[in-house]
Amino acid sequence: MIFESHAHYDDKQFDPDREELLSSMEEHGIGTVINVGSDFASCKRTLELTEQYAFVYGALGIHPSDIADLNEEAYEWLQGNACLPKVAAIGEIGLDYYWEKDPEVQSRQRYWFCRQMELARELSLPVIIHSRDAAEDTMKIMKGIHAEQIPGVIHCFSYSPEIAREYVKMGYYIGIGGVVTFKNSKKLKETAASIPLERILLETDCPYLAPEPNRGKRNSSLNLPYVAKEIAALRGISEEEVIEATRGNALRLFTKVDT
Ligand code: NI
Repeated sequence: MIFESHAHYDDKQFDPDREELLSSMEEHGIGTVINVGSDFASCKRTLELTEQYAFVYGALGIHPSDIADLNEEAYEWLQGNACLPKVAAIGEIGLDYYWEKDPEVQSRQRYWFCRQMELARELSLPVIIHSRDAAEDTMKIMKGIHAEQIPGVIHCFSYSPEIAREYVKMGYYIGIGGVVTFKNSKKLKETAASIPLERILLETDCPYLAPEPNRGKRNSSLNLPYVAKEIAALRGISEEEVIEATRGNALRLFTKVDT
């Protein structure tokens, strides 16, 4: 069974058929889903999904593009609810300088990234990190706070294979999704082929980033076999081997998941 490590089924794009889709996961070989919060409202909807579906676990955290949602009161809410039995991680948190160019807001992103990393440390939870166009600052912050003591995944990894190896050395997992199937994603293909299989997680980031041959359409975990197939081809191993190894990896990282 496939372990989907990063989905957003709370997204409006799933309103028409969410229940039908989630109910069909098991028959399509999707065994576990981590639904990842991004803003405050999506964290609340994530908790509802974890109550409705036994195989759905949640991550609570505020995405760098949504830090306007964060203040001490919201932080305390995160702190309280992250202790629930089906909250398996803090995320997604991090830095996004692609969408945010204002240095003052970037500095607030760094502040809340650090605070949420510390929250994960305090609660002994792993982190799901989003980092886009901010490779240097992300690494600097993580080294500064000794992030090697906090287990986690760099989700939708978009940097060089060299940076991937640095994260692997820190004990981090690398989340790989639909982008690896795109023809122009040379760096990511190289990363997927060269880092240890024991460090790779499968993810969609759905509804975004559908793999080939469904690129451009709404994504869902049902497309993960295409991602597994591409990673398998790049490494010269079987798709089943990729699915089994990445599931084992996810279970090692998300220790609150019991299946
Ligand atoms: Ni995401």
